[in-house]
Amino acid sequence: MRSCKLSSGATMPALGLGTWRMGESPRRRAEELDALKYGLDLGYPMIDTAEMYGDGGAEEIVGEAIAGRSERPFIVSKVYPHNASRAGTIAACERSLKRMRIERIDLYLLHWRGGARIEETFEAFHRLRQAGKIGDFGVSNFDLDDMEDAARLDKGLNASNQVLYCLSRRGPEYDLLPWMRKKSIPLMAYSPLDQGGLLREPALKKLADGLGCTPAQLAIAWLLAQPGVVTIPKSSTRDRVKENLGALDVKLTPQILADLDRAFPPPRGKQPLEML
Ligand SMILES: NC(=O)c1ccc[n+]([C@@H]2O[C@H](COP(=O)([O-])OP(=O)(O)OC[C@H]3O[C@@H](n4cnc5c(N)ncnc54)[C@H](OP(=O)(O)O)[C@@H]3O)[C@@H](O)[C@H]2O)c1
Repeated sequence: MRSCKLSSGATMPALGLGTWRMGESPRRRAEELDALKYGLDLGYPMIDTAEMYGDGGAEEIVGEAIAGRSERPFIVSKVYPHNASRAGTIAACERSLKRMRIERIDLYLLHWRGGARIEETFEAFHRLRQAGKIGDFGVSNFDLDDMEDAARLDKGLNASNQVLYCLSRRGPEYDLLPWMRKKSIPLMAYSPLDQGGLLREPALKKLADGLGCTPAQLAIAWLLAQPGVVTIPKSSTRDRVKENLGALDVKLTPQILADLDRAFPPPRGKQPLEML
């Protein structure tokens, strides 16, 4: 599987498991845990989570899913902006580590801009890194102007910006993604299936049928085919977790890429970054 180099020298895999909406309901917990464990058994090398998801419930499920494994996946988590002060970030990270029962988060992100001044958040990230509690740090939901501010404030920032990016939301391609590529900052594409909405697009279904894959596999493969882009589809069901991993086997020809561009046109001008 392709991977991206981060500033610490670590590598972030191109495909992982999302966890938003997990840990919210005791009734669905067993199914969610099973889906994550199954995904890890199949070889997914990364899990994306956040203190926000299920109010810590998703991180607890992640902790249970990775417990006792000989090979631990690459773990990404996020701090709430309202916790992202100098002291607040450190305390939030320690709570996340405890919930996941791990010593280190591989990539720790500011979930979105707001709350504390980012200088403070970055200072806390550096302290956490020095203490070995995180590997790398980055941001999420930052548009180009936010990224320019962030890069000015922290010259060492090159460890990812997690944003909404998929076939039906191609805005980042206009300016954000090219800027990030130039700086070697990986883009983590969240909601690669547009939370399932993309899968109802007849054009995607038709192209996927022609390729002999599913619409979800084609949507994920399109992201994986792009240098510097990684993605984190979420599913709480075994069949879909397996199906989504099958995206790695989908070969995209120039013809298919052109057909996708016709069905889901790239942006012709600046579109403000969308956020879910
Ligand atoms: N940084 C941020 O602000 C931010 C925002 C949003 C998301 N994220 C991260 O990105 C991850 C992915 O985004 P997302 O969860 O919003 O959306 P997504 O991965 O685009 O879609 C998830 C939805 O699609 C369904 N699904 C998954 N695979 C499917 C398949 N093969 N066929 C049909 N339906 C399928 C899932 O249902 P089932 O679970 O029932 O299968 C779920 O309802 C999140 O889980 C989270 O980790 C980050």
